[in-house]
Amino acid sequence: MKKTIIEARDVCYKYDGTTALAVDHVTLTIAEGEFLAILGRNGSGKSTFAKLLNALLLPTEGSLTVNGIAPATEDDCYEIRKSCGMVFQNPDNQIVTTIVEEDCAFGLENLGTPPDVIRSRVDEALHSVGMTEYAQASPAMLSGGQKQRVAVAGVLAMRPKIIVFDESTAMLDPIGRRDVFALARRLNVEEGITIVWITHFMEEAALADRLIIMDNGRVAIEGEPRAVFGQTERVMALGLDVPEMMKLAAMLRERGVSLPGNIMTVNEMAVELCRLK
Ligand SMILES: Nc1ncnc2c1ncn2[C@@H]1O[C@H](COP(=O)(O)OP(=O)(O)OP(=O)(O)O)[C@@H](O)[C@H]1O
Ligand SMILES: [Mg+2]
Repeated sequence: MKKTIIEARDVCYKYDGTTALAVDHVTLTIAEGEFLAILGRNGSGKSTFAKLLNALLLPTEGSLTVNGIAPATEDDCYEIRKSCGMVFQNPDNQIVTTIVEEDCAFGLENLGTPPDVIRSRVDEALHSVGMTEYAQASPAMLSGGQKQRVAVAGVLAMRPKIIVFDESTAMLDPIGRRDVFALARRLNVEEGITIVWITHFMEEAALADRLIIMDNGRVAIEGEPRAVFGQTERVMALGLDVPEMMKLAAMLRERGVSLPGNIMTVNEMAVELCRLK
């Protein structure tokens, strides 16, 4: 059995001055090395949950352990932030300096890391995201996708075990989006980093190991993407779309065509249609 790296038990979060719970009794375990996607309509609690994972917020109820630490003191929060990095939606908000490599070093400098260690970690991180040749460049000159790669390098330099991407592709063009998603997948597969991938794009969610759909602060559906999207009506009732081929399969089934519930890609649809007599 795989080791659990994140364990949430009945985790709740309520913002000051509000009455509803933004995160409402979430119980969830995430295994080390897993690539978990989170979908959910606006306001369903995804970002609040992400901030709890990163100890930017602390649960108002319930228990949460991240990499073996339950945040109780400031020091715990600090440790959690080192092991669980976060990449946000807007790359411009994450860039703080005017030279790419300085930007990647920022977090380590704040930790008081010795300069030679910073040097090697930053070089390694920039190499890992394919941005070595831009080390001396100004972040302002980069595309959105490249800026996100620099943001990922800044997180990687801290050697995290987990990276939470909160809609990190939402502001990118299709190429940048694919590029950043592929980077996260590669870090997951090659370096064993646990990924929590929050997105509005179901095509991305479809490629995760596991998918949860949040609604009203709760986990509404959880499972392998294929099994989740296969519950087409339920997913759509939660205000979300499902992959086109799943919708088409559901429509054809409604009209009496006998098709399995797990068709997700055009190829799979073609194979099943050719099988029909
Ligand atoms: N700082 C805040 N103060 C008060 N309420 C907040 C605050 N931030 C979020 N909320 C509320 O908490 C709930 C969950 O918000 P959250 O940002 O976690 O949702 P989300 O799923 O990330 O949405 P989106 O898809 O728009 O990013 C919403 O009802 C939201 O209005
Ligand atoms: Mg959000």
